[in-house]
Amino acid sequence: MKNCYKRFGSRFILNTTKLLVWWFFNVGSERKYKEAIERVNQFAMEVIKSKETQIGDKTNEDLLSRFMASSWEMGFEDEERRKFLRDIIISFILAGKDSTSTALTWFFWLLDGHPHCKHMIHKELSMLMTSTHHIHPLNLTFDDLKNLHYLHAALSESMRLFPPVPINSRLTVDDDILPDGTFVGKGWFADYSAYAMGRMERLWGSDCREFKPGRWLDDNGMYQNFDQYKYPVFHGGFRMCLGKEMAYLQMKSVVVAVMHEFEIEVVGGGGTPEKMVEPPYSLSLLLNMKNGLHVRLKKRQQ
Ligand code: HEM
Repeated sequence: MKNCYKRFGSRFILNTTKLLVWWFFNVGSERKYKEAIERVNQFAMEVIKSKETQIGDKTNEDLLSRFMASSWEMGFEDEERRKFLRDIIISFILAGKDSTSTALTWFFWLLDGHPHCKHMIHKELSMLMTSTHHIHPLNLTFDDLKNLHYLHAALSESMRLFPPVPINSRLTVDDDILPDGTFVGKGWFADYSAYAMGRMERLWGSDCREFKPGRWLDDNGMYQNFDQYKYPVFHGGFRMCLGKEMAYLQMKSVVVAVMHEFEIEVVGGGGTPEKMVEPPYSLSLLLNMKNGLHVRLKKRQQ
């Protein structure tokens, strides 16, 4: 045992020394890391420059153009302020891109294993198409998408079982007592798992492991929200996801566009109740699907 500690201790010291040397001389993974950060920063700066030339152009209605136009009086020409804007862009890209694509991956996997839910979404889409006189799905308005209650419910249900951010942590700056009386000391990590919470019988009932979009609908088929502390998929409280509504909008737009055009068949079968027992996830910061989602697309007869 003593030897084991000795070996572990010397390996730890060796690794730490190696990293310090790399950091000091700017070589190895330290150098790669800095180069990667520089590349990401450059990318964001180029995005800012390209938008800058179009400020005032009313046809530019993307999020960044609007953000820049509305806050230009803050003086983003200034170098330091530009860096601030750059960091905002990077945080939006990092926070918003992989989270929504991860959510959609599990969603399409689950739909393939639940034909009834797929049918319900098609039914809702075809009602929408009729009411909008068969407008192209890419031209649907915010309100059109907002009214897709079943789709909203199915996305929420999919993220309950497969939350894109499965575990989240906080580091305490001071001693604290949680509402249930649990003591948390200064410098401790407090973690919660949205994945585990989404599968708790105490919170979601005995059918907690089933994919049932209906639990999010009231008697009139209208979407009903649950408490953010019961469903912390977008975190809760002050630091809750700023892009939640936008994420739903994005995901709904993608689902409508794809499902309107194609039949999606998951290679090897999708998330049936049997397959959901041992879902193919690989854990990282996000709940990725192991080996990705392989599908066959077939053009739908309109
Ligand atoms: C399904 C999609 C998404 C999920 C599940 C999700 C989830 C989360 C979670 C759990 C957090 C809290 C992270 C933490 O503080 O530890 C967060 C924060 C954040 N999210 Fe999202 N997010 C999604 C999409 C988006 C989109 C599309 C955007 C922007 C366009 C976005 C912007 C942000 C920002 C800016 C924060 C930081 C908020 C703050 O710290 O005050 N998210 N998100």
